[in-house]
Amino acid sequence: MERSRRRPKPSQPIHKHRVIFLIYSLLFSLFLFVTTTSKAEDFPVGYGYSIRSTTVDSSGRSLTAQLQLLKNSTAFGPDIQNLNLIASFESKDRLRIKITDANQERWEIPQEILPRQTLYPHRLLPENHPSPQESQFLSDPNSDLVFSLRNTTPFGFTVTRRSSGDTLFDTSPDPSDSGTFLIFKDQYLQLSSSLPSSRSSLYGLGEHTKKTFKLTHNQTLTLWNADIASAKLDLNLYGSHPFYIDVRSPASDGRVPAGTTHGVLLLNSNGMDIVYSGDRISYKVIGGVLDLYFFSGPTPEMVMEQYTELIGRPAPVPYWSFGFHQCRYGYQDINDIEGVVAGYAKAGIPLEVMWTDIDYMDAYKDFTLDPANFPLDKMKKFVEKLHLRGQKYVLILDPGISVTKSYETYKRGMQADIFIKRNGIPYLGNVWPGQVYFPDFLDPAGGIFWGNEIKIFRNLLPFDGLWLDMNEISNFLSSPPNPTSTLDDPPYKINNSGVQKSIIENTVPATSVHFDNITEYNVHNLYGFLESKATNAALINITGKRPFILTRSTFVGSGKYTAHWTGDNAATWDDIAYTIPSILNSGLFGIPMVGADICGFSQDTTEELCRRWIQLGSFYPFARDHSDKYTTRQELYMWNSVAAAAKKVLGLRYRLLPYFYTLMYEAHSKGVPIARPLLFSFPQDTKTYEIDSQFLIGKGVMVSPVLKPGTVSVNAYFPAGNWFDLFNYSRSVSVVPGKYVTLAAPPDHINVHVREGNILAMQGEAPTTQLARKSPFQLLVVISSSGNSTGEVFLDDGEEVEMGGDGGNWSLVRFDGGIVGEKVIVRSKVVNGDFAMRQKWNVNKVTLLGLKQHLKKLKDYEIIIKVGGRLQNGKPMIKESFDGNSFV
Ligand code: NOJ
Repeated sequence: MERSRRRPKPSQPIHKHRVIFLIYSLLFSLFLFVTTTSKAEDFPVGYGYSIRSTTVDSSGRSLTAQLQLLKNSTAFGPDIQNLNLIASFESKDRLRIKITDANQERWEIPQEILPRQTLYPHRLLPENHPSPQESQFLSDPNSDLVFSLRNTTPFGFTVTRRSSGDTLFDTSPDPSDSGTFLIFKDQYLQLSSSLPSSRSSLYGLGEHTKKTFKLTHNQTLTLWNADIASAKLDLNLYGSHPFYIDVRSPASDGRVPAGTTHGVLLLNSNGMDIVYSGDRISYKVIGGVLDLYFFSGPTPEMVMEQYTELIGRPAPVPYWSFGFHQCRYGYQDINDIEGVVAGYAKAGIPLEVMWTDIDYMDAYKDFTLDPANFPLDKMKKFVEKLHLRGQKYVLILDPGISVTKSYETYKRGMQADIFIKRNGIPYLGNVWPGQVYFPDFLDPAGGIFWGNEIKIFRNLLPFDGLWLDMNEISNFLSSPPNPTSTLDDPPYKINNSGVQKSIIENTVPATSVHFDNITEYNVHNLYGFLESKATNAALINITGKRPFILTRSTFVGSGKYTAHWTGDNAATWDDIAYTIPSILNSGLFGIPMVGADICGFSQDTTEELCRRWIQLGSFYPFARDHSDKYTTRQELYMWNSVAAAAKKVLGLRYRLLPYFYTLMYEAHSKGVPIARPLLFSFPQDTKTYEIDSQFLIGKGVMVSPVLKPGTVSVNAYFPAGNWFDLFNYSRSVSVVPGKYVTLAAPPDHINVHVREGNILAMQGEAPTTQLARKSPFQLLVVISSSGNSTGEVFLDDGEEVEMGGDGGNWSLVRFDGGIVGEKVIVRSKVVNGDFAMRQKWNVNKVTLLGLKQHLKKLKDYEIIIKVGGRLQNGKPMIKESFDGNSFV
C-alpha cells in the first residue's frame, strides 16, 4: 500500500506552476531516457567476446569456454575483460548456462539461501582445447536439449531441441540494439536471444498486472520488488520471477508438434529490465551473474515439474486454508470482528478464517495487541470460540520493528544486533508504526530473533497462520543516495515504477548492508522470500504442524514456503479480469496457493461487482475477501444477492474441497499449478494460448466467469469434448473441434464445467471444512467418448507437516471408470494404505455422466471401491438408478 492513498487530498485546480513542474518532469524523464539508453556508437563494430579455449569434463556433460573481450565499450562502466561460460547438463531435462567474471567472484544467490539440486555430478578435467572447432556441441544422450557454441568473432551460442531441430535460444546479434548479444560490466549485464515470434508464445516474467496472460510484443518487464498497487498495469510489483515458458506453435515443416513447451529461468536477484519485442528477448540486469536454466518440457506440466525440481516444490498448505477467508483493513475493534463472524453465521455463508490487519496492534507494533480495541483477554476468548466452531484466525505482521525504547521486541532485536545496517548503524525507515528498523533475514540470528518473537506472541494468542505484508521492503521514506557509491544510483536505470524511479525510493537504500557484508543492492528482491522461509521454519518449530503463510513479496523459490495474494487491486471491472492472468502467473512461478482480494481492495465495490467476484473468487485456490480502510464494507452478507450467490458458489467450492486438496498434493509433488491455463490440458489446441478470461482447476474443471457489468451471458471457449455444468449435470456442451459457445450466465450463476474423462471425488456442503470433511464422499464419474475416466483423491489429516511424505499417515486413492463389455465399471486403487485403512471414509453415491453415446450397448454397472481397507462393492450401497442417460 502506498502511503499517499491513506490520506486522500481534496481535488485542487491545476495551477500554472504545476503545469511548469509537469513540463520539467517530462523533460527530465526524457533526459534520463537519453542518458541511460545505450546507443549503437557506445558499442563499436566488432564489440563482443571471443573464445580463447574450451574445457570439457570427462562425463561430456559440462563445457567451459574462456572468453575474452574484443573491444571496449563506453556505456554503463568498464567492460569485464575475461569471462567464463559454463554449459552443463544438470539433469536430463535441465541445461544450465552460466556466464561470469573469470577472475573475480561476483554476487550469486548462495546454495544455503536457495538450495538447488544438481542431479549430474561434474568432473572437470584440467585439459584445455586451445583452438576449438568452428562449432562445439554439448549434448547428453538422455536429453532433448543440445547446446552449441559458435566459435565466431564475436562468439555465440544456441540451445536447440534435438527431437525436432527447433531453436529455443539463439544469441545471434541484434542489429537494432547495441549489435551484440552479450555485455558484461560490473553493474550492467545484457544477454539476448532471438525468438521465432510467430511460433513462440511466452508466459511468465513477473510479477506484473497484465491485461493478457500471454505476453504481448514490444514491452519492457521490470523486476524490482516494490510496494506498487497491483491495480496499476504493467509496473514492477511485489515479486521477481525471471522465468518464462515458451509454448511453440507448429513449424512449417511439421516437425514441432503444437504445444511443445520449454522453460527458461535467469537466476539472478538483481534488478532488471526484460525487453520482449516478440522476435527477441533481452535481459538488462544491474548486477550478479548470467545464470540461465533451460527446462526441456516438452509439455507445460513437465516444464513445471522440472522447474520446481530446481527451485523447490510448492509448500503444502493445511486443509482448512481452502475454506473461505474474510479480512479487512480497518476493522475497528473486537466487537467489529465478532460481528463479522456472527454475520456470516446468520447468513449461512461458510466462513473458515477470520483475519485481522494492522488494526489489532498497539500503535502498529508487531507482536502487540491494542489494549483498548483488541484487548488480550477478549482476543483469547474470540480465538477460542473460533476454534470451538472449527474456524481459524490469521493475523498480519510487517517486517519493520518500531524503534521504541520500551518495546520488548525492539530491545531484543537490538540486543541480538540483527537489523539491516547503513553506515554501521541500523538503517532507520518509516512504516505504519513510524520509525522502524528492519530485521535482516540473511542473518541466521535474524531468523532466530523473528522465530522467537512469533513464539512468544503465539503463546499469548494461538493464531493459526501468518500474513506477511510490506516486505518488498516498503518504506514510506526515501533516503538520499550515498554519493560515494554507485549502488544507490547505478549507471543503468531500470524502469522502476514505469518512470525509471530511483531503485532506492520508498525502500531500503541499496548501500545498506546485510549479514556477511552483503549489500541490499544484491539481495533486495530476496527479502520477502527470506522472511517467508524464516517464518515457515519458525511455525513448524512452534506448532509441529503444517504452517499457513501468506506473503506479498516473493522471489524464485518462495512457493516452497508460502502462499501469495496479488496485492492491492481495485474494486473495478478491469481488475476482476486481471486477476486471472495474475493467478495463472503465480502458478507458473511455483506458488500455486494464490488468490486476489475478492470484491476488490481499494475503492468502493458494488453489489454486482462483488457478486461476480465471489462467483469467480470461489475458484481461486486461495479465496479471501479483503478491502481497504475507508471503503464501503464488503462482507458477503452485506447484500442479499451477494449472500445468495456466495452460498451457491461456496457450496460448490466446499463440495470440491477434496479435489482442491488433491491438487495441492499434485502441486506439492510435481509442481503443477492448482489453477491452470487452458493450454496446460490442451496444448495441441493453439486457440487456448490466447485465453485469459477462463481457467482450469486441475486438468478438467473449467471456470468461465462473467467479467463485465450488466451481462447475463458469457462467450466461453470450450476445447473439444463433452463438458457438464457442475451446478446442473443435465446441462452440457459438446464441441468438436474446440469453439466459443455462448452460455447463459444469469446474475446468480457462474459457469463451471467438468470435462469428460474426469472423476471428481466430492464431499458435502458445510459451514466449515472440518464439518465438510465428516460428510460422505460422492464420486462424479464422467465417462469419455472413448469409454474411460480417471481421477484421484489425496487423504490425510490435513495438517501434518509433510504432505504425502515417507512414513506419513496418508493415502492416495486412484479411481478409474470405464466401459467393459456391457457394463460401466468404476474401480478404486489405494496407493498408500495408511490413512484410508484407519479412517472410515465412505463413498455413498456415485454419479455417472457421459453415457449417452454408449447407451446402446450398456446394460449394467458395477462399483468396486475399496475404502477403509474394506471392499465397498457398489450395488448394495449405491442408490442410483439408471435413467437411460445417466445414473443419477
Ligand atoms: C498493504 C496490503 O497490501 C494490504 O492488503 C493491507 O490491508 C495494508 N497494507 C494494511 O496493512
